[in-house]
Amino acid sequence: MAVARPEAPLGVFDSGLGGLTVVRALKERCPSESIVYLGDTARVPYGTRSPETIIRYAMGCARVLVGQGVKAIVVACNTVSAVALDALRVEFDLPVLGVIVPGARAAVAAAGGGPIGVLGTRGTIASGAYPRAIAAVSTRAEVVGQPAPLLVPLVEEGWLEGEVPQLVVRRYVEPLMQQRVRAIVLGCTHFPLLKAVIAEVARELSSHEVAIVDSAEATAEDVEKFLAERGLASQRPANEATLELLVTDLPKSFAEVASRFLGHEVENVRAVDL
Ligand code: DGL
Repeated sequence: MAVARPEAPLGVFDSGLGGLTVVRALKERCPSESIVYLGDTARVPYGTRSPETIIRYAMGCARVLVGQGVKAIVVACNTVSAVALDALRVEFDLPVLGVIVPGARAAVAAAGGGPIGVLGTRGTIASGAYPRAIAAVSTRAEVVGQPAPLLVPLVEEGWLEGEVPQLVVRRYVEPLMQQRVRAIVLGCTHFPLLKAVIAEVARELSSHEVAIVDSAEATAEDVEKFLAERGLASQRPANEATLELLVTDLPKSFAEVASRFLGHEVENVRAVDL
């Protein structure tokens, strides 16, 4: 593996906006890290595509980030983490970290031995990546997967509250509650933007406490640990860390939703081609 510079940025990508949930967690946990984020807004959603197509798209995203001189890639997308992580690791000469293993660990901790529900895209649920990752942490944990494809366009649209998201979320959460899950993993990085609705619906439908697990924080923890162990953590003052946002389409609308989400004005989102 080529020698990376600690001051090089971290590369983070997702099919669209969802990966910003990971960026937010990274900025909190690793404030000295500069980040180059790529949202493949021209091709979102990934979760409805075949594994071959997802791998091809993921390769294109990683190539752009490698071209930006990043020291490691954080795949802020469950769908890509589920089907393309190995292919990315084989293809690129730098560390590639995903969101599923940290999410699985956080889910086992939150479920207290009870059944774990996973909400994800069709691609993620069909891959079986969560049951595999959860089984590696706890052989006893029962896992119930529920594809929730309509939540991705709702988030991309910025439709995060009110009747429509509530009805859609209820449709997906109800089967999990029938299985009496004790924790629901937000197994798509878009879903934390709907966390309040998901938590409310789960509360309404359940007589017991249900933990809502967002893998973003667990991923940021893993990234922090990984960088420290490899001597790759940036030493720059936090106020000198930068965030560069790249998209493959519609930079303006991305900037609007990203500003709302990150809680500060986001300017100069740059359009790139894969
Ligand atoms: N945010 C992504 C994930 O974590 C992908 C959503 C999509 O493009 O379908 O799975």
